[in-house]
Amino acid sequence: MSRIAYVNGQYVPHSEGAVHIEDRGYQFADGVYEVFAIHHGKLIGVQGHMDRLGHSLSELRIDWPMKPGPFMVVVNEVVRRNHVKNGLVYIQVTRGVARRDHPFPADCVSSMVVTAKKMKPLDKVALSKGIGVITIPDIRWKRKDIKSVSLLPNCLGKQQAREAGAFEAWMIDDQGMVTEGTSTNAWIVTKDGELVTRDISSAILNGITRLAVLEAAKEAGVSFSERPFSEQEALEAKEAFITSSTSHVKAVTSINDNPVGNGHVGELTARLLDLYVDFIEAKGGPQHTDKWN
Ligand code: PDD
Repeated sequence: MSRIAYVNGQYVPHSEGAVHIEDRGYQFADGVYEVFAIHHGKLIGVQGHMDRLGHSLSELRIDWPMKPGPFMVVVNEVVRRNHVKNGLVYIQVTRGVARRDHPFPADCVSSMVVTAKKMKPLDKVALSKGIGVITIPDIRWKRKDIKSVSLLPNCLGKQQAREAGAFEAWMIDDQGMVTEGTSTNAWIVTKDGELVTRDISSAILNGITRLAVLEAAKEAGVSFSERPFSEQEALEAKEAFITSSTSHVKAVTSINDNPVGNGHVGELTARLLDLYVDFIEAKGGPQHTDKWN
């Protein structure tokens, strides 16, 4: 069955979807995006993704392409037309098409593209197998809270990870602290048993999965700290994992080829994966989604 994409007002075969050569997303990476997980036919974290998209758009002064109501009708329609029960929906909004010139054009109409992709259903066994991460310098700009399509440093980092036989790269800031992965948030359980993920600021993207895991942990009485943690703490950690809409809660079992803890999925990591799945199935996503940097 052929895939369908939504491109600026039309549903078209995915292979025929195209944008203008002077779209500012193409020319300047002048746009933002969101990725929603679809889990057993349900979109996860809708409110969070919509709030974060609103934050990204307003920080860049890009207009919403349409009001949130019709916007969600389009998103759901793309999911429906592609028969996606498990997978993701990708939404990209750019400032629109204009003659190439750096300042914002006077009358730009935002462009909007929506695609959907089938993926294997969330598999707790596969997620618990564990992946390797490497550490690399964080060479990105200073507004990581904005989900910009300008992802070149992230692509370079992910490629470096793959060439090193790892799944993800954790980026290290100038103070030696871990910011996040190239497309995931980073978590550790320190050698003293403290569950830690970096606090919200313009140094990281506030992941919707991150928020869901924090809320699920809180409800279950699992204590945690939101604070920067150092590369050294990560190397000495008992457990580590990553979170994102597509990686869910994925165990990290090696950092720079050194085993994390005993080299197997950690106890708390496994518990948080269970709590996360129960949480999204019961609540659909995080309920507190108002803080973005
Ligand atoms: N990435 N940090 C970065 C830099 C990300 O790109 C992402 C998401 C996350 C996790 O956010 P969330 O939990 O809302 O998915 C953290 C998406 C999945 C991507 O670029 O494909």
